[in-house]
Amino acid sequence: MKILIINGGPRKGNTWRLTMVVKKMLKRFDSSIRFREVHLSEVGLPFCLGCSNCFRKGHQTCPHYQKIRPIMDLIEECDAVIFSVPCYQGHLPGIMKNFTDHLAFLLHRPRYFKKKALIISTTGGVSAGSTTKALASTLSGWGFNKSYQLPITAFSWNDYHPTKNDLRKTCEVTHRFYLDVNSGKMHTPSLGVVIPFNLFQAMCIGNKGEKDYPTEDNRFWPKYKGMNYAPGIPLTLLHRLLGTVMYLVGKMIAGNVVISYKK
Ligand SMILES: Cc1cc2nc3c(=O)[nH]c(=O)nc-3n(C[C@H](O)[C@H](O)[C@H](O)COP(=O)(O)O)c2cc1C
Repeated sequence: MKILIINGGPRKGNTWRLTMVVKKMLKRFDSSIRFREVHLSEVGLPFCLGCSNCFRKGHQTCPHYQKIRPIMDLIEECDAVIFSVPCYQGHLPGIMKNFTDHLAFLLHRPRYFKKKALIISTTGGVSAGSTTKALASTLSGWGFNKSYQLPITAFSWNDYHPTKNDLRKTCEVTHRFYLDVNSGKMHTPSLGVVIPFNLFQAMCIGNKGEKDYPTEDNRFWPKYKGMNYAPGIPLTLLHRLLGTVMYLVGKMIAGNVVISYKK
């Protein structure tokens, strides 16, 4: 099993300390796990410029692609990703938000359908839960099959030592994460994931604006034609029915509205 750890904080503080506890637990569960680490603070990724090249022309045309590509390659190669993200103002630290902005095109063209994630956050007092939840929501839009969340209140700025209770919770969540990744089981996505998948698909194939302003989205979706979600991911009958209805709604919209990314 290969696990990538992304340190989405600007330093190795409380959250990183807890992440290393998780790593140790995982090694105890399975000594054959291979880990890779990325520290975003060392990558030197400039701010997303909002050029929208990734949406329109493909993420390879991002001016910062040379920085983004190695991380995307590492995500592709691993079975699961651990995100280590301290709580800053009830949300992700800027350095992590900047990273997710560079991958926002994945909300239009999801790809990590077989990946699972563990999101770890520590907070001084409140809102570690909203931090992990925000990232989990982004990851489900990127296609991630399942995200486990470990929000912990550290009551500390820089001197956090996990309490007995924290260790119990950490062990329980880490164990569930490990068993799930090890099983290779794929989970049924939520309806909130299947609906935009089908809408986007319908709206990006043969829409009114496509001829004048062809985009990478137009080129991406035809491979999923006739599918309500990515192959190999189980869907219930309800998912399929709703997916098909949303596809038809998307087709109606695409036939009447000019969708263009004209700048
Ligand atoms: C810029 C900044 C914003 C913070 N925002 C919050 C917050 O919204 N709520 C909170 O309870 N603690 C907040 N804290 C405290 C941190 O969440 C807490 O100390 C956390 O454990 C830091 O993790 P780290 O050591 O991995 O950076 C903030 C700290 C910083 C530096």
